[in-house]
Amino acid sequence: MNKDNRVILVTGATSGIGLATVQNLKNSGFQMVLTGRKPEKVEACAKEVGVPGYVLDVANEASCETVVAQVEAEVGPLWGLVNNAGIWLEGDFEGHSTSQIRSVMETNTLGTMFMTHAVLPGMFERKSGTILNVISTGALYCRKNISVYAGSKWAIRGFTGCMEAECGPKGVRVMGFYPGKVSSSMYDTAGVPRDLDIAMAPDDAAHMINCMITDEKNVWGQLSARSLSDYA
Ligand SMILES: NC(=O)c1ccc[n+]([C@@H]2O[C@H](COP(=O)([O-])OP(=O)(O)OC[C@H]3O[C@@H](n4cnc5c(N)ncnc54)[C@H](OP(=O)(O)O)[C@@H]3O)[C@@H](O)[C@H]2O)c1
Repeated sequence: MNKDNRVILVTGATSGIGLATVQNLKNSGFQMVLTGRKPEKVEACAKEVGVPGYVLDVANEASCETVVAQVEAEVGPLWGLVNNAGIWLEGDFEGHSTSQIRSVMETNTLGTMFMTHAVLPGMFERKSGTILNVISTGALYCRKNISVYAGSKWAIRGFTGCMEAECGPKGVRVMGFYPGKVSSSMYDTAGVPRDLDIAMAPDDAAHMINCMITDEKNVWGQLSARSLSDYA
């Protein structure tokens, strides 16, 4: 695969899986674009990795459309999009506020749809593109205490499968990656610290994303993965 000039944008790339993915794919030769919602983090991470950085809140559709247009004008047409931005919410459903519920659905679900909506016209015109959605094993089963997070990801599981069928004939791959526990700051940020000794490293998740993206003749519809130590 000739990766020169292949521009890939990653959302939520200021930490965890997103940041590791930008670094990993850059090392593979892609032209990466790092995005995140906090300007100071975007600036620091983009500088550290050595790629262009843009402030992008995926929950805001105007931000999605504007930043995609800006990146395509300044860096180049988008060959790839990794919809990675996401937040965790845990606990009994009745204990969540409606604003917490809205926030998870807007980031995890609508954010993925808004970004996909923003990049697709260009990809269809070029008859080429790759969209990889970072979903979760939480979209493969049901259990208590994760109703909103799981609901947000189950929605994207359905969206990804439908878009895989709809976009494939137009030359655009849409794929879903379903990691189990990853040792990122996601749980800490949500105020529910976890022992992540048994979790997969963000670099390992990034490696799998790289495999899915670079195998360009094939569509990896659903790849789920857990660290071996998570089975102990
Ligand atoms: N960690 C796990 O065990 C696990 C397992 C399965 C799936 N996942 C999924 O993997 C993805 C990445 O999570 P992670 O584990 O790497 O966690 P993380 O380190 O917390 O990274 C999440 C990223 O998303 C960003 N973000 C949050 N809301 C955003 C918004 N509205 N617009 C743009 N960016 C936003 C965060 O930026 P801020 O600093 O601004 O908040 C952060 O950079 C998520 O979709 C998550 O659901 C994680």
